[in-house]
Amino acid sequence: MPDKENDQELIEQVIRSQKYAQLASTLVSRVTKEEAKKHNSPQAIIQSARTRLHQLTGAYLAPKLDYTQWLYKFKSLDPNDRLGLESTSLSMMRLHASTYERLEVLPTFFQTALASISPVKSVLDLACGLNPLSIPWMPLADGFSYYASDVVNPLVHFLRHYFELYRVKGEASILDLSFSIPSQPVQLALLMKTLPLMEQIEHSLSQKILENLNAEHILVTYPLRSLGGRRKGMEETYRSQFDQLVAGRNWKIQEFRFPNEVAYLVTK
Ligand SMILES: C[S@@+](CC[C@H](N)C(=O)[O-])C[C@H]1O[C@@H](n2cnc3c(N)ncnc32)[C@H](O)[C@@H]1O
Repeated sequence: MPDKENDQELIEQVIRSQKYAQLASTLVSRVTKEEAKKHNSPQAIIQSARTRLHQLTGAYLAPKLDYTQWLYKFKSLDPNDRLGLESTSLSMMRLHASTYERLEVLPTFFQTALASISPVKSVLDLACGLNPLSIPWMPLADGFSYYASDVVNPLVHFLRHYFELYRVKGEASILDLSFSIPSQPVQLALLMKTLPLMEQIEHSLSQKILENLNAEHILVTYPLRSLGGRRKGMEETYRSQFDQLVAGRNWKIQEFRFPNEVAYLVTK
């Protein structure tokens, strides 16, 4: 069978499971084609493609996240109930490992890391996960705009409704960073805990993303512990990865150290 047809059949098998059908098709297709070059049996290809896709996406999310129910909870709040909004957002953010690990420092995280550029007028939150729910804790300007994207369809769909509900100017969309890098001009781009995943997809993808983003500032962060909770060597590894990324550039870098995360505010 010609390779192309074979690849298409394998992709269809991968997305036979709903969990993978809901991911950006460009990412599923890329990962499946790469795995097809490494393994011989269709089972091995499908299994390893699904494992890689899980490590990039589902591994961070609570397994049975009922977005409809969460949307209903937000819709049931009185629009002026700030405390209700904050406590519902905090509860939902517990369901994505990346936001969960940030919760204890959320009141100071963005205030500290973005102090020098606040109030922020426009944000591009890439590979966002549930981070847009942190908007109430960010130092944003009146009338700010917020563009969020990820590769998980139901998550993006939920964020779209959430933005409508709270009249957030901007949009939530599906965007596979390994397929396209947005070029829209913004004051701030967020690349939070994302670059290690981009390096897993393609060596030097982080560099391409940093170079091509049309943002005045980029907040790059790295986790300081693994999903399993181990810390060993992560700080040194990511520090040296980041140092290499920005070496020789005339960019201003500010560093902020939090208990579970290190953040760098890059000003181009
Ligand atoms: C480690 S989580 C970080 C989430 C969020 N930035 C935060 O720090 O709270 C990585 C996120 O990247 C998304 N992702 C994985 N591969 C991606 C890709 N190729 N393009 C865009 N997003 C991707 C995942 O779905 C997941 O939400």
